[in-house]
Amino acid sequence: MKHRIVLALVVVVLVTFSILFRASAIPSIPAVASETSSTSLRALAQKRGINIGAAVDFAPLQNDPDYRAVLTREFDIMVPENAWKFEYVHPTRGHYDFTQVDALMAFAKANNLKMRGHPLAWHHLIPPWVTKGNFTRDEWIAILREHIETLVGRYRGQVYIWDVVNEAINRDGSLRDTIWLRNIGPEYIDLAYRWTHEADPQALLFYCDYATEELGQKSDAVYDLVRGMLQRGVPLNGVGFQAHLGLSYAPKLKSLAKNFKRFGELGLEVQFTELDVKVQDGVGSWDSRLVEQGKVYAGLLKTCLEAQTCTAFTTWGFTDRYTWIGDLTGLGEAPLIFDKSYRPKPAYDAIKDVLQTE
Ligand code: G3I
Repeated sequence: MKHRIVLALVVVVLVTFSILFRASAIPSIPAVASETSSTSLRALAQKRGINIGAAVDFAPLQNDPDYRAVLTREFDIMVPENAWKFEYVHPTRGHYDFTQVDALMAFAKANNLKMRGHPLAWHHLIPPWVTKGNFTRDEWIAILREHIETLVGRYRGQVYIWDVVNEAINRDGSLRDTIWLRNIGPEYIDLAYRWTHEADPQALLFYCDYATEELGQKSDAVYDLVRGMLQRGVPLNGVGFQAHLGLSYAPKLKSLAKNFKRFGELGLEVQFTELDVKVQDGVGSWDSRLVEQGKVYAGLLKTCLEAQTCTAFTTWGFTDRYTWIGDLTGLGEAPLIFDKSYRPKPAYDAIKDVLQTE
């Protein structure tokens, strides 16, 4: 009898330790004292009928309280900058690592942020077990299908939008020669959207690309691609315009408006999905460049608000402290709307002015 009691106690202790260890192994992101403000970007954007979002990097979200505070106060969409990418979430065959995405999803829910899923079928950050694999076409199809169904199925009903296929078109309008195109054929695009919709019928499905903001060869090709998908009955809800811009290459707003209009006439939503505006390529003093940067952001937002089907304005990061854009000339780049000390820049004020001016 005594042995049984001791054995039971040992089992209880071991189970308790394993639960505690597993809990500690999931990198939790500290909670944020919810600070709502009627003049925050998210509050003002909501009044104008759009969402405003930002890409988030896992490390600062976990370690930097100012990062968490500004994100939750000012934005209502978050998109993991890298956590959902193939190399990180599906590093070896049959093995998935959702620790970061689970923590990000929990944070999004706790702070009433919509979660944007990014990306599913993309050509970057594909792990060697895929790129160096020697598979039949059926195996390639099975690999992409399992990847998509596993990622989308795990978060069924929790993701606002999936960037299903990302950057599939070249600047000349041809299909990008990606690992998926080479090994499956152009059908990979329709298949990716059909698999995603089956795995989560609630999520909105977007096609995203860059250098597509104005009317031109590349945006024409995106238009033809999505129009064909709609004609084939492929589930698709919108097009994301990444808008990685600079002071020397901001889109002409009339062309952007016409571009948004034609996609809207297909019944598709349009969104800015990865906005940043470099200042290194500008002229004049640093301060004058930041003012110019604000004018670019403001013009894009105005065009979005005036478009019938523009539903969100998402930047790729939100503070110059954490941006993917490396230091181009040693002066540091400053492409976002908060500076490295989380102070609002002229771009923040310009965006706020647009949101407050009906
Ligand atoms: O995590 C590793 C780290 O362990 C290692 O020490 C370090 C140095 O090698 O690399 C780290 O991984 C880097 C990762 O960012 C996280 O910082 C990758 O090398 C680097 O390639 C990766 O860059 C990301 C890039 O996509 C990948 O192509 C950028 O952060 C991310 O902002 C960028 O985002 C893309 C969108 O997904 C799609 N649209 C274009 C946009 C900008 O390129």
